[in-house]
Amino acid sequence: MTDDAIRLRSVTRRYGTGGMSVTALDEVSLDFPRGTFTAVMGPSGSGKSTLLQCAAGLDRPTSGSVTVGGTELTGLSERRLTLLRRDRIGFVFQAFNLLPSLTAEQNVALPLRLAGRRPPKARVREVLRQVGLGERARHRPTEMSGGQQQRVALARALITRPEVLFGDEPTGALDSRTGREVLTLLRGMVDREGRTIVMVTHDPVAASYADRVVLLVDGRVDGELTGASAEEIAGRMARLEAVPC
Ligand SMILES: Nc1ncnc2c1ncn2[C@@H]1O[C@H](COP(=O)(O)OP(=O)(O)OP(=O)(O)O)[C@@H](O)[C@H]1O
Ligand SMILES: [Mg+2]
Repeated sequence: MTDDAIRLRSVTRRYGTGGMSVTALDEVSLDFPRGTFTAVMGPSGSGKSTLLQCAAGLDRPTSGSVTVGGTELTGLSERRLTLLRRDRIGFVFQAFNLLPSLTAEQNVALPLRLAGRRPPKARVREVLRQVGLGERARHRPTEMSGGQQQRVALARALITRPEVLFGDEPTGALDSRTGREVLTLLRGMVDREGRTIVMVTHDPVAASYADRVVLLVDGRVDGELTGASAEEIAGRMARLEAVPC
């Protein structure tokens, strides 16, 4: 076992071919140590979502290598990759992607059902309690606020006890107070349970909850900030996004 939950080595992802091709990631090498919270920031189109998708095994790099807890993803069959994603990776998106006809507990249990396992009720209730929704198990998404729905999505991502939790702007659709609730929850999972979280965000306040901020520009790592305040992160982003003369 390595101390890194995820390792990327010279990861390049190109879309399209020939003159029309776009290099979304350009030789990116990054480590995500276990028990740490990393935010990924950068201008629109800088490759943040692509980075997350490659690191989570949702997309395959054009070249380079990705390892999850020591397992090399390159060369895994689609089936092995699907199993690895299902058993070892959690993902939350900006859109909560809950099924409206299912209750909170049914939504949370879904990944286990899809894996052909019977979801233990106590475990479903436990993760709902972890995200502060113990009393909401029987509610449907339409009966819940945005923050509550995102917490259901979080519980659904956690039901399989993933080694790494990825979030692509998980607080992007939330107002700032609700967003802070979700971020506090994520921070607590890292501090109390030693989970590993990688989160894309545009928001310097959200990024300040992370231990480290990785900055992407044009598909390359442009630097890192460690333990930075929201003000420091905002200042760095403003310089990044300034149009060069
Ligand atoms: N499926 C695709 N086909 C072609 N090009 C793509 C595809 N997905 C992404 N790209 C391109 O790759 C680059 C990186 O996109 P990506 O979605 O990773 O950026 P991002 O940093 O997440 O941006 P945003 O902040 O707007 O979400 C962009 O130039 C984008 O147009
Ligand atoms: Mg994106």
